[in-house]
Amino acid sequence: MTNNECFPGFELGIPPGITHGRCVRDGYNRGWGLQWGGLAEKISADPLYIEALRLAEGRSILSPLSRMNLFLILKFYAAAIPPGDIIEFGAYKGGNAIFMAKVCAELGLSSTVWALDTFAGMPETDKTVDSHSAEDFNDADLVELTQYIETCGLKNIHLVKGMFEETVPLLLTRAAPFILAYIDCDIRSAVRYSYNTVKHHMVNGGYIAFDDAHTSTCLGATEVVEADVIRRDGLHCEQIYPHFVFRIFKTAAQVGAAGAAESRWARIRSFALLRKSSETDQSTAFIGHRES
Ligand SMILES: C[S@@+](CC[C@H](N)C(=O)[O-])C[C@H]1O[C@@H](n2cnc3c(N)ncnc32)[C@H](O)[C@@H]1O
Repeated sequence: MTNNECFPGFELGIPPGITHGRCVRDGYNRGWGLQWGGLAEKISADPLYIEALRLAEGRSILSPLSRMNLFLILKFYAAAIPPGDIIEFGAYKGGNAIFMAKVCAELGLSSTVWALDTFAGMPETDKTVDSHSAEDFNDADLVELTQYIETCGLKNIHLVKGMFEETVPLLLTRAAPFILAYIDCDIRSAVRYSYNTVKHHMVNGGYIAFDDAHTSTCLGATEVVEADVIRRDGLHCEQIYPHFVFRIFKTAAQVGAAGAAESRWARIRSFALLRKSSETDQSTAFIGHRES
């Protein structure tokens, strides 16, 4: 499925540029396409979608349309922004992370998927705003999940166990800037921490999607989008259907600084790869070391 096949005849005369920090045309193409334009049927028949979904089967509670929207972003839009990693806040049984990792691997994207969770259920929640309770989703099995990922042959996925607040600071020293952050942790404290942390670590034009902010059970997540993303940060969404999607564009000065950081990451990563693949070839490893 190419981009043209993906969006046949969808022409509202929307120009392709960025206005108010998002691409309105791209938002319509994905959102309208999924809701009204027959895109879901096309994606359902895409061999890569089918194969990635097969690996994730029984391991994700994401709505099919949300998964399809992530598929569209990775397949048709990721190549237009600088390369980087993917982070999922709230991985639960790992299915959506596996899905994204498989799609990236098959598309040749260099992204590592960082899948974060306590893997032991929800932490304490705030009943003044969250409908969820502590220990909801406490039936993930990290040992089984780790073994399953190995049998899938996926090398581009890292499971990160613990409270986000405890694991993310170290993770950010190891991950590349993100092309996509998927915030799927339901409760206000976790959604707030995720957004306010990750927004500083996105590639220019990167995508932040909120799984729950428009759902009936997650007013805490809605509040973060209202208060932090829209009111305080002044962002306009690129999509509201099937979930909120925002873009993070940087100023020219930030792009310069981020570009330097990104190329440093590229050098560190190639050095790590060189070391891994050539433990017996010290001369190659040394070249990598000198360049880093
Ligand atoms: C709705 S589930 C995620 C669903 C998953 N993305 C999928 O594809 O099925 C939400 C998850 O967020 C996790 N979570 C919520 N707050 C957290 C926090 N502060 N630190 C780590 N995990 C958290 C919960 O443990 C739960 O597994």
